[in-house]
Amino acid sequence: MTRSSSPIVIAHRGASGYLPEHTLAAKAMAHAMGADYIEQDVVLSKDGVAVVLHDVYLDSTTDVAECFPGRARPDGCFYAMDFTLQELRRLRLHERSTRGTDGRETAVYPDRFPLGSGLFRIPTLAEEIDLISGLDKSRGRSTGLYVELKGPNLHSSAGMDIASIVLDVLAGKGYANRPEQVFLQCFDPLTLQRLRHELKTPLPLIQLIAENDWGEDSCSDYNEMRTARGLEEVAAYANGIGPWLHQIYLGRDTAGEVLLSDLVQTARDLGLLVHPYTFRRDELPAGVASFDELLDIFFRHAGVDGVFTDFPDLAKHYLEEHGARQP
Ligand code: G3P
Ligand code: CA
Repeated sequence: MTRSSSPIVIAHRGASGYLPEHTLAAKAMAHAMGADYIEQDVVLSKDGVAVVLHDVYLDSTTDVAECFPGRARPDGCFYAMDFTLQELRRLRLHERSTRGTDGRETAVYPDRFPLGSGLFRIPTLAEEIDLISGLDKSRGRSTGLYVELKGPNLHSSAGMDIASIVLDVLAGKGYANRPEQVFLQCFDPLTLQRLRHELKTPLPLIQLIAENDWGEDSCSDYNEMRTARGLEEVAAYANGIGPWLHQIYLGRDTAGEVLLSDLVQTARDLGLLVHPYTFRRDELPAGVASFDELLDIFFRHAGVDGVFTDFPDLAKHYLEEHGARQP
């Protein structure tokens, strides 16, 4: 796939540094900030409707425990796929939080939007596409979609094919054949291979790379995937990779020089795009003093093709001011 002349800025879950993730408000704000792509993490409701939500469960970003007590699974979690769309629509979305043993909720990012506003609802994928395409029309832009298929094996075990359902939604909205405007991403290589070879999507595919101990996909060895041989296999079905930023930036040496892995160069040699995640002003890696410094390391030292960020305005501003390393 041809590299764009400038790296792309992907609004990670929308402008989620300012408004609760995956709310239509956060997506509208990302659009207004000029994000090149806006991300949709997608899971399915019990009745098979694609909704935009990061986790396969509802606990960390909704009031499900108050709204539907007793509907948790034995593991204590409330799974989105156990609720119909009508039920999901009753929930209020809020800033990501954790619940302590005393039952109190604490915001994961304390300086962001307040918890408990009650303003936001879970959108369907179709609704979000309508919002973005509507804003494209009224603002004269052409904003990309960057859709992640969450938990394909969990959905499959419930008899639901998330890949086909997402492709159907994209087709219904006229996006299924716009490779210049839509990326599909997944942590599961088998799902991406199926999208490419069986479902024959023309859309570019991004292989997300986790750490093995995150439990994203128990069948994949992401350490092996990051080797030259592993990336060669990825290049057979995908157009790029989405690694964790710590798999590229390794810290600083004793002289204070930035240490980078060879992942970006190895991927580029194979023609793979590199879109690392997640760039947060309020979660800087060790050895990085500011958000601009973080962007500098990735755009000018590492030479990545784009970044997933909760702060798309800051990344766009950085690129306008400083540019990036020439490919
Ligand atoms: O999809 C890129 C990045 O979003 C992956 O991490 O967990 O935020 O979906 P996650
Ligand atoms: Ca994602």
